[in-house]
Amino acid sequence: MSTAPYNVQAYRASLLHFRADPAFDDGATLWHEDGLLVVEDGRVKAAGDYAALSGTLPPGVEPLDYRGKVIAPGFIDTHLHYPQTDMIASPAPGLLPWLETYTFPSEGRFHDAPHARSTADFFLDELLRCGTTTAMVYCTVHPQSVDEFFEASEARNLRMVAGKVLMDRHCPDFLRDLEGDLGQSEALIDKWHKRGRALYAITPRFAPTSTDVQLRLTGELAARHPDTFIQTHVSENRDECQWVGELFPQARSYLDVYERFGLMRPRAMFGHCIWLDDADMARMAATGSAASVCPTSNLFLGSGLFDFERADQAGMLLSLGTDVGAGTSFSMLQTMNEAYKVARLKGSYLPALRMFYLATLGAARAMRLDDTIGSFAAGLEADFVVLDPQATPLLARRTGHCNALEELLFALALLGDDRTVAATYSAGRRVHVRAG
Ligand code: GUN
Ligand code: ZN
Repeated sequence: MSTAPYNVQAYRASLLHFRADPAFDDGATLWHEDGLLVVEDGRVKAAGDYAALSGTLPPGVEPLDYRGKVIAPGFIDTHLHYPQTDMIASPAPGLLPWLETYTFPSEGRFHDAPHARSTADFFLDELLRCGTTTAMVYCTVHPQSVDEFFEASEARNLRMVAGKVLMDRHCPDFLRDLEGDLGQSEALIDKWHKRGRALYAITPRFAPTSTDVQLRLTGELAARHPDTFIQTHVSENRDECQWVGELFPQARSYLDVYERFGLMRPRAMFGHCIWLDDADMARMAATGSAASVCPTSNLFLGSGLFDFERADQAGMLLSLGTDVGAGTSFSMLQTMNEAYKVARLKGSYLPALRMFYLATLGAARAMRLDDTIGSFAAGLEADFVVLDPQATPLLARRTGHCNALEELLFALALLGDDRTVAATYSAGRRVHVRAG
């Protein structure tokens, strides 16, 4: 008997994935009603029609029968905060009071490694329950919060991106970096970036909590490590935008603060992007930077409505984030639900196919990881979610009479949540199965 951790497995279900953005390409969607996903050594070997592929399976390999369910690439959440898990759903009138009242005190506890580890364990299991297999995660200023997160992720063999928050002003003393010292971030890059499936994100929290010196050194660090990620917040809230204008009077705009310090480049992920003007959006596109749109957070804090139409006109790279704990759900299905309504309130329209693209291949492209995750192209890592259109009585009733794929996916996005996820797989291994 083989003792290899992987060999060949096959899964029979409806398969959904993308080879391009369905907003701009009629042939973007790949849908196999009676499909077969073949996995070898944790990577996709083939994905297509059952009738075409079943004869290619090695002798003795019996497909696992998920007929009636939809297998899609694992969801990718491009913006959230694991130290904010315990303070999700904390009431405050807007971003800045919410940060002061709940966020900073909660993050202060992450100097304690056992607290960080137990929170990271819960957080990752919650993501997997929701079908999210990759996320871009903020830790706290404490290096141990990063170590504990990546150790918890490594134990589950997940493709995760995370980094130490950088903050050296306008924050409590117990969360403040030493001015002019980015040694901890550099050591964490050396330790974690590309170790197994871990990837490092240089993480200045947002412009108001970094001095010019810290932002300059952060840009230099990013230039020394061009294949790392960068993540931060931008143009989320009107009061915040005004504050940035006062703190950085020389900058043309909030986003321009980051550009001046060398923080706009491929693999830079900017959370929110609500109040960007046309010139900002053009810079996002020109520099290959990407936006993480966080609708549950934006509605919860009353931050504003992201303008999908203008962003598309500018050619920006887009993805979706939950922004837990300002976001109110870990579920990317619930995030799609709210994204749809945000688009409607802005007078535009987000089809379900586009939302599933944004939560899979679109995010992978935004992160420059589409040669690794985000679709079922042969050779990619086999991270996938098994969605159950009959997960609840209401979903079963609604999906029982869908006339088109768009209707089925729309019902999953609008009515779905963690209950809709029958199972989640990471690198070909099952890492979550729904109880019951
Ligand atoms: N801006 C700066 N920090 C944060 C944060 O933790 N959450 C959100 N939503 N916005 C921020
Ligand atoms: Zn955030």
